[in-house]
Parts: sequence; C-alpha cells; structure tokens
Amino acid sequence: MKSSDYETLVSEILACEKCPLSRSRTRAVPGEGSLDSIIMFVGEAPGKSEDEQGRPFVGAAGKLLNTLLESIGLERGGVYITNVVKCRPPENREPEEPEVRACNPYLVRQLNIVNPKIVVALGRIAGKTLYEMCGLKWHNMRVARREVVKCRVGEASFKLVATYHPAAALYNPGLREELEEDFRERIAKVASQVGGKTKTLEDFLLRGKKEPTTSQEG
Ligand code: URA
Ligand code: SF4
Repeated sequence: MKSSDYETLVSEILACEKCPLSRSRTRAVPGEGSLDSIIMFVGEAPGKSEDEQGRPFVGAAGKLLNTLLESIGLERGGVYITNVVKCRPPENREPEEPEVRACNPYLVRQLNIVNPKIVVALGRIAGKTLYEMCGLKWHNMRVARREVVKCRVGEASFKLVATYHPAAALYNPGLREELEEDFRERIAKVASQVGGKTKTLEDFLLRGKKEPTTSQEG
C-alpha cells in the first residue's frame, strides 16, 4: 500500500546513517506533499531552515518556490517536494558523489511511490542526478533548459524538466526571469499536456481554460 510504503520509507530516512551527512544533520528531511501529485519537485539538499524544521524548501528558496508554484496555479500542498540528499551538508556545501549515491535509493522509492508524470529537477545537482538515473548524459543547464526528456526509473515513467535552483535566482534577477519562464513555458505546458489526476491540477487546468474574468458592473 502506498501510504504504508511511504511511512516505512520516511522512518528509514529519519534513522538513516548510510553516509557521513547523518553525523552533522539536526533532522533528516524526507520530503513532503501529496503522494498523488502528478508533479514532483526535486531540489539539491536541505539548508539551515530545512535541517531545523525537518521540512523541504521552507527557507528563502522555499518562499520563492511557493511563489513560482502559485504563479502557475499549483498549491504547494498538492505537489510532492523532496531533495537529492535528505540531510544538510555542512556549511551548505554541495553534496558529494558518494553522498548522492548513498541517498539515491530513497529518491528511487519516492519516484515509484508517488509515480509522477512530471519531475522537475531544481538546479544542476538535481538535474545531473536525475538525468543519470534515467540513463541520460548531463551536459549543462543551458542544454537541459532546451528540452523535456522522457525518463523511466523502475516502474515510474515521467517527463523530466530541469531548471535553475530557486536559491540561485534569489541572487540573480536575470535567472529569476528565466526560472519564471520555465514554470510558465515548460512546466505548466507539460502539466496541461499530461492531464491531471489531482484535484489541484484539475483546478489548475480548469482555471487555465476559463474565459478572462470581466469586471463587474454597477
Ligand atoms: N534548497 C534545496 O535544494 N532544498 C531545500 O529543501 C531547500 C533549499
Ligand atoms: Fe542517509 Fe541520505 Fe541522510 Fe546520507 S543524506 S544519512 S544517505 S538519508
């Protein structure tokens, strides 16, 4: 059963000591959101706020992610959000290859439990990790931003979209525009093509089809 598989997975992550990041973390951050979501967002690693709260994307980058989700009519609670590694790297350094490898089976299981139609990789680390999980070569973000690739991991088949990490866009207004464009032009478009199985996404699609609202008279 989906929810009991998920509960097992979460308790394994919370107790995990498979890589050295377990020694410096405050709390592991498994992920959160709807297990029925057609979209899954994958970031790099928990930061300071995430490590303190045990929840993904709750700091400054998380606020921007929430805004981006809203901009395409998605509710945060209606999507599933996680990271490539579930524990915070010291000083927010990038996770190292052995850490990514040690943690990868959890991401594989999350993909198979949620079984999303679209996976959005946020940033280079998530992009590279997911491309390689799909047997694809990662070049760089510039190349990846021009494509949406088909991907299969275990039983999960989905379209993979890589874009910038929201944290990078916080310090670079140019990147923020490109990130907003990716949400509008790539993520929302693919979402409307694959159709919705969550209420949130159906709402979003309906809203997308509605006539522009006319102003009330009198
Ligand atoms: N950055 C990430 O990659 N993940 C988080 O959860 C928060 C910030
Ligand atoms: Fe385990 Fe992943 Fe945390 Fe490493 S980062 S201790 S593999 S949960």
